[in-house]
Amino acid sequence: MRIDILTLFPNMMNMFFEESILKRAQKKGLVEVVFHDLHDYSLTRYGSVDDYPYGGAAGMVMAVEPLVNCIERLQKERPYDEVIYTAPDGEILSQPMANQLSLAENLMILCGHYKGVDERIREHFITKEISIGDYVLTGGELATAVICDAVIRLVPGVIGDEQSALEDSFQDGLVAPPEYTRPPEFRGWKVPDVLLSGNHAKIEQWRMEQALQRTKERRPEMYGKYMEAMVPDPRPNLMYGPPESLFRKMITKTKKTKQQ
Ligand code: ADE
Repeated sequence: MRIDILTLFPNMMNMFFEESILKRAQKKGLVEVVFHDLHDYSLTRYGSVDDYPYGGAAGMVMAVEPLVNCIERLQKERPYDEVIYTAPDGEILSQPMANQLSLAENLMILCGHYKGVDERIREHFITKEISIGDYVLTGGELATAVICDAVIRLVPGVIGDEQSALEDSFQDGLVAPPEYTRPPEFRGWKVPDVLLSGNHAKIEQWRMEQALQRTKERRPEMYGKYMEAMVPDPRPNLMYGPPESLFRKMITKTKKTKQQ
């Protein structure tokens, strides 16, 4: 996967991609992240890329020409699955959206700034607008980092244990159950006996019950949706089964297509 990020602050962005999993993904050659400094596409001597809005409103707007120059140069080099714009009025980032984006070959992300971009960019170039929540950030760089983190960790091979990504909170429409590690007892606080029992069917049942209970308590709206979509689990001893994960199906499908 290649991600091209169009930003006014490439240095601010670099930091996120030079640590941990995002760095490893790039080192392994699974993901290539390329930053483009929008100042390089400025039409003025001073490198400015913004201008006053028509109609006299406060704030500055990212101008159409430098953005078009950058976007079209990149589009000549490769086709993009999505040209994303980060904005507080975009579609809220979700796990299904991250799953979908992780299957892309090429993504372009334009980090919004100032009051926003000239609307003609949104109309003619942007294919997807994403918000990371109902609050306003000073710019789209943090939002882009969040989107990239959620997407890159799902690219096959990026985290050692793919099963772990599939068991994340939200992946099956439930939050994750609690996790414990050694020691089995600390200050009298004990790890639940079932987890030490070695009985995998029982452990799986316990994890499912915990996930259901937590989702009901913490995310009632998500619990309601899950119960509506619930399908009986064919495995013995399990009262409930997650609907076959869409993402799992998508991954299998992509792998098959690639092998053909
Ligand atoms: N830019 C400013 N606020 C934002 C948000 N909440 N999500 C995405 N981009 C933004």
